[in-house]
Amino acid sequence: MNKFIKLSLLTAATVVGSNSMASAGDVEVLHWWTSGGEAAALKVLKEDLKTKGIGWKDMPVAGGGGENAKTVLSARVTAGNPPTAVQMLGFDILDWAEQGELANLNAVAAKEGWDKVVPEALQKFAKHDGKWISAPVNVHSTNWVWANKKVLDNLGIAQPKTWDEFVAAMKKVKASGLVALAHGGQPWQEATMFDGVAMSAGGSDFYKSAFIDLDTKALTSAAMKETFERMAVLRSYVDDNFSGRDWNLASAMVINGKAAFQIMGDWAKGEFLNAGKVPGKDFLCFRVPGSAGTVLFNSDQFAMFNVGASAAKDQAELASSIMSPAFQSAFNVVKGSVPARTDVPNTDFDDCGKKGMAQLAAANKSGMLFGSMAHGHANRASVKNAMYDVITAHFNGEYDAATAVDELADAVSIAK
Ligand code: GAL
Repeated sequence: MNKFIKLSLLTAATVVGSNSMASAGDVEVLHWWTSGGEAAALKVLKEDLKTKGIGWKDMPVAGGGGENAKTVLSARVTAGNPPTAVQMLGFDILDWAEQGELANLNAVAAKEGWDKVVPEALQKFAKHDGKWISAPVNVHSTNWVWANKKVLDNLGIAQPKTWDEFVAAMKKVKASGLVALAHGGQPWQEATMFDGVAMSAGGSDFYKSAFIDLDTKALTSAAMKETFERMAVLRSYVDDNFSGRDWNLASAMVINGKAAFQIMGDWAKGEFLNAGKVPGKDFLCFRVPGSAGTVLFNSDQFAMFNVGASAAKDQAELASSIMSPAFQSAFNVVKGSVPARTDVPNTDFDDCGKKGMAQLAAANKSGMLFGSMAHGHANRASVKNAMYDVITAHFNGEYDAATAVDELADAVSIAK
C-alpha cells in the first residue's frame, strides 16, 4: 500500500514538475491501460487518431482499476495543468463535472446523435446538467469467470453452473496441486470479485439495495454475511503468493495452465487474446455461478478537461473518433469489452464478445443491468473506498464474516 502511494506521489510530482503540455494538434491522454491486452487495445485508438492527423501524447499511469491514475490526475488539476483527455469511470466523471473542470461536448454529440445510441445507464455518467462531458468507449462487466479449458478437461471438471459446483471444482483443482483461483491481492481486485459474489449470494434486489441505494437493512442482511463467507471460501483457494500481484499476472496464471480460474472483469479477455488464446478452445468465459442473467457494468469513458479553446477542436475529433461505430467494434474486439453504442454489429466479435453483447442488451431490457461497486458505478469514491477497506481487511483475515458486515455498515454510514 505504502509503496503504491509513494510511487503515485512520485509520479505525480514528476508530471507536475515537468509541466508537460500537449502541443497544438496533439491530445494528451491520461490512462491506466498498461498491460499487454490493454496496450494492444490502446494501439487501435492511437492508430485511428493518426489517420485523422491527431497526435497522441501518452500519459500512462500503471495500476489496474485506475487508483494511481486518479492520484496523478488530481495532482495535475491542482497544478493547473490538466491533460486534454482522461480515462475515467462512473461517479468520478460526475465529480469532476461538478467541479466545473470538464469540457462541453454537446455540439459533437448533437451532430452525431449520441443521445439515440448510447444506453441510458451510460448516459447517466456521460452527461451532467444536460451537457455531454465524456465519450464512452466501452462497456466492461465484472461478474465473469475465466477458466483454462485444458486444466478443466484434464481434471474432468465441467463448467460450473452453481456456486456449489464452482466450489467443488476449485476443491478438485486444489487437490491436483494446481492453483484453483488466480488472484492478485489488491483492494480493487478483491472488490471486483466481491461484485459478482454479492450478486450470486444475494440476487439483484439485494445488490441494488446494498450497493446502489446503500440501504442499511441490505447492508446488514444475511445475504451480506453470506457474501463475506463466500469470499472467505475463495480466499482458501488462492495461492500463497497472491499478495500485491497485478491482475494481468493472475490472468497469466490461467493462460499458462498454472491456475484454473480467475474472477475478473472482461478486460482479462484482452490478456488471453493477446497471448493468442481462443475462447471455447483454450479458455472459457462464464458468469460468476449464481449471477447469470445479471450484468454488473463498468464503462471506460474519456472525459475532456477544460484546457482552452485551441484544444476544443481536437477534443471534439477525439470524442468523435471514439464514438464511431467502426472504431467501437475494432477497439472492443481487442479490449475484451463490448461497444458503448447499441447499433454496432457483433460480426467481428468472438464467442465471449457475442455473449457479452447479447447479455448486456438483455440485462438492459429486463432491468438486470447494475453499476459495478468495485469500479465506481454504484456510488461515489468515498463510499467505494470505504467498502474496499472492509472487503480487503476481511479477505486478509482481519474480520470474520459477522464482524465484516458490521464494519461495512459502519464504514458506509460514515462515508455517505
Ligand atoms: C478497469 C477498467 C478496465 C481495465 C481494468 C484493469 O477499471 O475499466 O478498462 O483496464 O480497470 O486495468
